[in-house]
Amino acid sequence: MLNDAVAGLGDYPFPRLAALLKDVAPAPGLDPIDLAVGEPKDGAPAMARDMLAGGFDGYGKYPPVPGTPELRRAIADWLTRRYALPAGMLNTDAQIAPLSGTREGLFMLPLAVVPERKAGARPAVLMPNPFYQVYKGGAVAARAEPVMLPATAATGFLPDLDTLDPVLLARTALLYVCSPSNPQGAVASRDYLAKAIALARAHDFVLAVDECYAEVYDTTPPPGGLEVAAATGSLANVVVFHSLSKRSSAPGLRSGFVAGCPTVMAAVRNLRNYSASGTPAAIMTAATALWRDESHVEAMRARYRARFEAVGRILGNRFGYYRPAGGFFLWLDVGDGEAATRRLWSTAAVRVLPGAYLSHTGPEGINLGAAYVRLALVHDAPVMAEAARRGAAALTD
Ligand SMILES: Cc1ncc(COP(=O)(O)O)c(C=O)c1O
Repeated sequence: MLNDAVAGLGDYPFPRLAALLKDVAPAPGLDPIDLAVGEPKDGAPAMARDMLAGGFDGYGKYPPVPGTPELRRAIADWLTRRYALPAGMLNTDAQIAPLSGTREGLFMLPLAVVPERKAGARPAVLMPNPFYQVYKGGAVAARAEPVMLPATAATGFLPDLDTLDPVLLARTALLYVCSPSNPQGAVASRDYLAKAIALARAHDFVLAVDECYAEVYDTTPPPGGLEVAAATGSLANVVVFHSLSKRSSAPGLRSGFVAGCPTVMAAVRNLRNYSASGTPAAIMTAATALWRDESHVEAMRARYRARFEAVGRILGNRFGYYRPAGGFFLWLDVGDGEAATRRLWSTAAVRVLPGAYLSHTGPEGINLGAAYVRLALVHDAPVMAEAARRGAAALTD
């Protein structure tokens, strides 16, 4: 009765966290601080308020699945500005698909691009490990083999593309790269992206660059997949994902997009016509305005800068603390991530996520995230400082 591949996925990280902490009470007398979910708490930008509130009439109609032309144009203009794309390189109608959050697009992509067989074998979908778990969900749903590529301190927290087996590459249908990466905040360099693009073209697979955290950085904007592809004169084989959840601190809007390679985008757009719901009209109007505005994005960066400075002052180099090149997570080496998660909750009332829940346990039982916890810097600097003080004390007592 059930799809056993999907059933075999096991529980998603947050139900696992709930089970881990089920019998653990938060430290009494302390305000709990939740850093487990990467959900910005700053509230959507005020500029979106009137557009959302005034959108009532839109609910009487089906919103278009491919999005409004205005939204696609705003996205194309933003991509062109942000990544200095040659004018006209992106066909606004054919090469951009607004999404109701990137999660659904990342999940759906394998269904659109994984063939039944590749090089006479079961297709592989490559992804970093640790990783955003939706990649695995999509790969498994498409009946591909998810293949986890270690992304550890030893590899600069990104998969080592130089050591991939040619037999594996031949049956690879899709490679996910996450930059800045969740959870470690590593940024793929231009050279790294160029190598990934060259591999995708040489072995005829799709490169999906998840750039949801691309706007959360300190001073240097991370390079992007389309930018590097454009320098080759073509966007072939490459798609990128962007989200207003992090850029505009608006996870509740459920608004993002996928854009890039015309062939891949034609397949994605067609599958979405069968499977997806259009984003509500008011949200598309708000999203159009948000992609056209940078001042709220600057303000967002300033908030995260203050938070990293606040926690960095307290943590120093303890637990392997580093200020990531991008994103808003701390990826701390605490020895035993599950034990530390329980301890942080019971003695500091700080809720974090064990790194093991974002990582794959290999056949030898090794889980590359087991020593870590992930903390999302989603509260203001004083709250983050309080969490860092409490947490450091709880783990060093
Ligand atoms: C790496 C990564 N990609 C994609 C997403 C999905 O974001 P959304 O669906 O809100 O656009 C997240 C959310 O946390 C994420 O961490």
